[in-house]
Amino acid sequence: MPPRESPGSSLYSLTAGTLTEKQPFLGVQVTFPTLPQRALTLLREPGNFQPIQMRILVTGGCGYIGSVLVAALLNRGDEVVVLDDLWFGGDSVLPFFNFDGFGFIKGNLCADGVLSHSMDGIDCVVHLAAVVGFPACEKAGRAAVWRTNVEGTAKVYETACRAGVKRLVFASSYSNYGESEQGELMTEESPLSPKSLYAESKIEAERFLLSQKNHHCTVPVCLRLATVFGLSPRTRFDLIVNQFVLQAFTAGKLVIYQEDFKRSFVHVRDVARAVLCTLDASLEKVRNQVFNVGSEQLNTTKQELAQLIRNRLPDVKLEYHETAFAADMRSIHVSFEKIRNTLQFETRVSLDEGIAELIQALRDGIIHQPTSDRYRNHPPILV
Ligand SMILES: NC(=O)c1ccc[n+]([C@@H]2O[C@H](COP(=O)([O-])OP(=O)(O)OC[C@H]3O[C@@H](n4cnc5c(N)ncnc54)[C@H](O)[C@@H]3O)[C@@H](O)[C@H]2O)c1
Repeated sequence: MPPRESPGSSLYSLTAGTLTEKQPFLGVQVTFPTLPQRALTLLREPGNFQPIQMRILVTGGCGYIGSVLVAALLNRGDEVVVLDDLWFGGDSVLPFFNFDGFGFIKGNLCADGVLSHSMDGIDCVVHLAAVVGFPACEKAGRAAVWRTNVEGTAKVYETACRAGVKRLVFASSYSNYGESEQGELMTEESPLSPKSLYAESKIEAERFLLSQKNHHCTVPVCLRLATVFGLSPRTRFDLIVNQFVLQAFTAGKLVIYQEDFKRSFVHVRDVARAVLCTLDASLEKVRNQVFNVGSEQLNTTKQELAQLIRNRLPDVKLEYHETAFAADMRSIHVSFEKIRNTLQFETRVSLDEGIAELIQALRDGIIHQPTSDRYRNHPPILV
């Protein structure tokens, strides 16, 4: 494994003599080891005093992407604090309580006092918590969406600056582009044209973050994720690939609207890898930057997606309809050249592999009642 850059954290002060340190978070004792085995090994190598692990705060860490990201961070030896209001439950992070380097804070980041202690000793923040998706935002309403997605992001950033956090990675969306002109690939420089309240809120949050240019403050980075697919401890079945697979598997039929409409996709584990790349890159490479996250190879029409599913489930009937209905975005394809060239990030999981793993999980019954609401984004009523 190539050596990772040091975030310059003082977390693992190698002069520390104790093995554990207790941090109070809102009255909850979160235990972290100060000197995990890897750091102890480093101690034995004369001259090597660079810590290689980070302590990361993941807001929304119980969600679809968050729970995969937390596993990836813990797996490589980082310490993780999850801040989440448990809108869809917390089962997704239960296994992480077995890790010494895991801490959890229950709370709504918009509420007074929740964020203030969450960033003590934190090197980087990955900000995922949001009202996510076009239908959830319509249901929650403009005021609640703005409070969470826009004002909440500003609050997270300002708290991070005060706490001396080095960088903040923000999960944004390629739905900000709205729609591609015929055949055109949208780049980070393309005009933004939101077609939904969700995209409007993501654009506004990005605008706030990208205007923060004080070099003494936290470095913001925005990742515009393509539509995510694949298995997660909190698999979402309201996202097009996962939803199509579930429908094909349970109903034996796929009803497809606007079959020629294009989407860009990225597997949830590749999203986690993209976040790790962004956390590990030098600050100068990512400072106030926007990166699309995905791969041109996963730019696919709905018809091609349906065909891929039928290759795996040959008995599925495909039904095409022209009817258009209110949607988050229309036909859109995206360029991923910038993240490839700047961060050397390439996706690894194909649509076919993602489809295959979903079918396998459904066949094996790993996901209990996949049609239940807990696998869809129905946020609570927000006041
Ligand atoms: N899934 C996708 O296809 C996709 C695509 C583009 C961008 N994104 C972005 O990635 C991020 C994560 O998406 P996801 O699919 O994992 O969403 P998710 O809905 O599965 O997870 C969001 C999590 O955030 C928590 N949360 C929401 N508001 C909160 C608040 N105010 N305080 C504390 N916790 C709160 C929820 O409890 C939930 O666990 C979001 O910001 C989303 O906009 C996702």
